[in-house]
Amino acid sequence: MKIGIDQISFYTSQYFLDLRTLAEARGVDPDKYVIGIGQSKMGIPPPDEDVVTLAASAAFRLEEQGALEGVETLLFATESGIDQSKSAGMFVHGLLGLPERCRVVELKQACYSATVALRMAMGLVAMKPKSKVLVIASDVARYELGSPGESTQGCGAVAFTISADPHLLAIDPEAGFYANDVMDFWRPNYCSEAQVDGKYSTLVYIKALKASWAQYAEESGRSLEDFARFCYHIPFTRMAAKAHQKLAHGISNEDLEKVIGESLLYSREAGNCYTASLYVGLCSLLDNANEDLIGKRIGLYGYGSGCVGEFFSGVVQSGYRNALFTEAHQKLLVDRVELTFQQYEDIYNYGIPTDGGKYIFPQYRTGPFRFSGMESHKRLYETV
Ligand code: CAA
Repeated sequence: MKIGIDQISFYTSQYFLDLRTLAEARGVDPDKYVIGIGQSKMGIPPPDEDVVTLAASAAFRLEEQGALEGVETLLFATESGIDQSKSAGMFVHGLLGLPERCRVVELKQACYSATVALRMAMGLVAMKPKSKVLVIASDVARYELGSPGESTQGCGAVAFTISADPHLLAIDPEAGFYANDVMDFWRPNYCSEAQVDGKYSTLVYIKALKASWAQYAEESGRSLEDFARFCYHIPFTRMAAKAHQKLAHGISNEDLEKVIGESLLYSREAGNCYTASLYVGLCSLLDNANEDLIGKRIGLYGYGSGCVGEFFSGVVQSGYRNALFTEAHQKLLVDRVELTFQQYEDIYNYGIPTDGGKYIFPQYRTGPFRFSGMESHKRLYETV
């Protein structure tokens, strides 16, 4: 029985900061960000957008199409959670009006948890092939103003369903994975910005990739030539390019562009989406591939600091193009509003009140849902 990704939907904020604007404000050569880091823009969530509204907006497209029929479990992957006890998934369950007969849980291991969610979902579907699992990965990447990480911020969510006989990607059973207790990137409970040992994090990312790939190759007997394309976890697009160069030593720039270029288009515009980034890459590839990918094998690498890496793969299914939201994704990116540097800093510094009082947040542009305020330490959400 084939099990894999049936449908996939991507959502990011309606606002962005151009990295050339950031470069000018920080006195940095714009080429460092645009070429050296490989990012053009970063999605900035306004005060009334958070991981819940990003997630619900991504999943709403699936709901509109009836693709959530049969969902018995919602796995919410995030590393920018909004509550220490209640899963962000419960808020999404409420906003989407999902059935009461539904398991809901939040998963965390930095940017990796969406990939373990995918695996767990496959196990649930294998036990009950008529059921579906909704996996949502949603994050806001936030570093200190003026820090080296600032240009690698971003936000976004991806919602995908795992089912038997999937429309998009049948996931192969083989996988290589690697865990190591390191401090490359972390966020203590009392911090609203990530702490990061930036250069070290890029080395650990590569080390985990090499170990995961070696194990995957041994288990599957496959080599790099067996893949039409690769999707990587994308903290910034140059990282994915460097990662692939490490696996495919001496690859030409032209071949590198062919095997990963299409997967990087959305991330270059939205920035780092942490748990969602690998799957933003998959959306970008499926939406933008010039070549017909039916029957082609895709290699995927998920990485979460701290750290866990996993290399796995899937085969693109016939008719996949009819199951995509390509037009909606492209329209979303084109229709966004550009922020000035001052607006970016004001939004960044807009802290969520913590005194338990009643607050109504200013209304910005969002998707179908917004985070409208706080009352008695409860987050208030509404349909727009
Ligand atoms: N024109 C073109 N290129 C330029 C340039 C210019 N004028 N100036 C600099 N560059 C190049 C540099 O040569 C460098 O390229 P190479 O790495 O190929 O040498 C690149 O631009 C970046 O320059 P620096 O290395 O000097 O950049 P930095 O030290 O200021 O910051 C960073 C880079 C450490 C990655 C920082 O952005 C950061 O800390 N980011 C957050 C952490 C991160 O994303 N880590 C990735 C792995 S961990 C992970 O994947 C999990 C996750 O999601 C966070």
